Amino acid sequence: MRRRAFLETVAGSGVAAFVSARPAFAADAEIVLSPAQPGATISPHLYGHFIEHLGGVIYDGIWVGRDSKIPNVGGIRKRFVDDMKRIGAPNLRWPGGCFADGYHWRDGIGAAERRPRSYNFWEPRMPKGVHATETNQFGIHEFMSLCGLIGAEPYVAANVGSGSPQEFHDWVLYCNAPAGTVSLAEERARNGAAEPFGIKYWGVGNESWGCGGDMTGGEYATAYRRFVTQFPSYTEPYLVAAGPRGHSADRDVAWTEGFFGGLQGGHRARVDGFALHYYTDFRQTAEDGARFDEKGWYAVLHKGALIEGVIEDHWRLMGRYDPEHHTKLVVDEWGNWYRGGTELGPAYLLSQTITLRDAVHAAMTFDIFNRHADKIEMANVAQTINCLHSLFAAVEDRYTRTPAYYTFEMYRPHMGTRLVPMRIQASERTVPILTGSATLAGLSGSASIRDRRLVLTLTNPSLESDVSAVIRLDGGGRVAEGRGIVLTHDDMTATNTFANPDNVTPRALAVRPSGDAAAVTIPKRAVVALALEIA
Ligand code: AHR
Repeated sequence: MRRRAFLETVAGSGVAAFVSARPAFAADAEIVLSPAQPGATISPHLYGHFIEHLGGVIYDGIWVGRDSKIPNVGGIRKRFVDDMKRIGAPNLRWPGGCFADGYHWRDGIGAAERRPRSYNFWEPRMPKGVHATETNQFGIHEFMSLCGLIGAEPYVAANVGSGSPQEFHDWVLYCNAPAGTVSLAEERARNGAAEPFGIKYWGVGNESWGCGGDMTGGEYATAYRRFVTQFPSYTEPYLVAAGPRGHSADRDVAWTEGFFGGLQGGHRARVDGFALHYYTDFRQTAEDGARFDEKGWYAVLHKGALIEGVIEDHWRLMGRYDPEHHTKLVVDEWGNWYRGGTELGPAYLLSQTITLRDAVHAAMTFDIFNRHADKIEMANVAQTINCLHSLFAAVEDRYTRTPAYYTFEMYRPHMGTRLVPMRIQASERTVPILTGSATLAGLSGSASIRDRRLVLTLTNPSLESDVSAVIRLDGGGRVAEGRGIVLTHDDMTATNTFANPDNVTPRALAVRPSGDAAAVTIPKRAVVALALEIA
């Protein structure tokens, strides 16, 4: 069953009123863009990353060691660095995740051979043997080298669950105090970094409702105030509080209320970011990453799209306590999470097969983030390599980009542009999902502009039908040139493997400009990125 529906992108405060003076269009969908009314800037940080000491993410995925035969830069896998540069990875969140609230930063500094072997939150789930304890070979200096090589901004999650305000502040001093000030700056210099790291983004714990301390929102507010009141501000910080478990059935609104309610009277507790986690969580089902049918395809896309309501709900709630909206959302963990069974190997905890479905899901998620660019400061995929919604898989000297990598590559042109109001008129679809049926937008997307170049990204979730679309400019202008790329495959379960790494890769897509419009056909089960030059 299909019915026409409108999807409207609202840029900041101004809702564009689109009045079509044209007769009915001869296409399945009409997209109207208002480039003359740009809205919020799309922060490059919406396209951010997350890496944790978990399974094969750091060790083997990123850190191969200085003596490795695998091509590396100071111990860091070279192909990973090259690909992260290629997509302009804007930030990296580290060291967790759940690992962060058990991590003591001092274990990861000093001569590598003298660093202790320590407990890792994920250790009980690891097989005995290699990687079964935390070796601390990858610490803050190695992390900062990685960020430097990629050109990514560091985002460090500090230990609240088993740490203290003093341990947190000492870490900040070690990282940010100028040479010649405090002793910790001298210690940093002795360890090879005379200049401060200048880390701005600090997460104050992680999932403090769960593995980060099992607190209530009110209890965490009390802890948060203690942890940030005397924060050493050598570098103007951006402090991120642990936010809700957005994928809970009740969206975890009690956490947000409890936290912000508990801050009342905490005059010194600034909260710049509020970390929302949203996993498209299928752990309690039979759904797996590699083998699925059309119900599984649509169920994942449908559940993924629900993040939009979660963003809106928490934003509204936050506005009750913070009407000026100083605090922005930081979606610092998002991605698909299937039941186990497709791991790269027993030691590669939480790794799973990444298919075209995950690439389309990522595209729909990015379009939602873009459409809410006024609310979101940053977002971080969980996790970049060898994990849940990964861009890369790497086992020893074998390496591949997953289909999800290409979504990041295709969406890169949105980074730092301004959101453009967009109205999509297309048929909604009633689709089968695991628990019955659901409604899904027939076409979803977002648009942005820099100078005279419009960037438009679209997803067609249908397994059955291509969608022909006419894109019109509202308010004058001519489409002088149009280029497109598309990511799709005949097989919805298509993936990239070490043996066949180019199975799912983008190809060119024809765009036909004509006056103030352009026509394009969006193939079924596809992600499309268009660049339109406006004259
Ligand atoms: O990304 C895997 C885990 O999921 C993280 O460690 C934790 O924060 C979340 O529950």
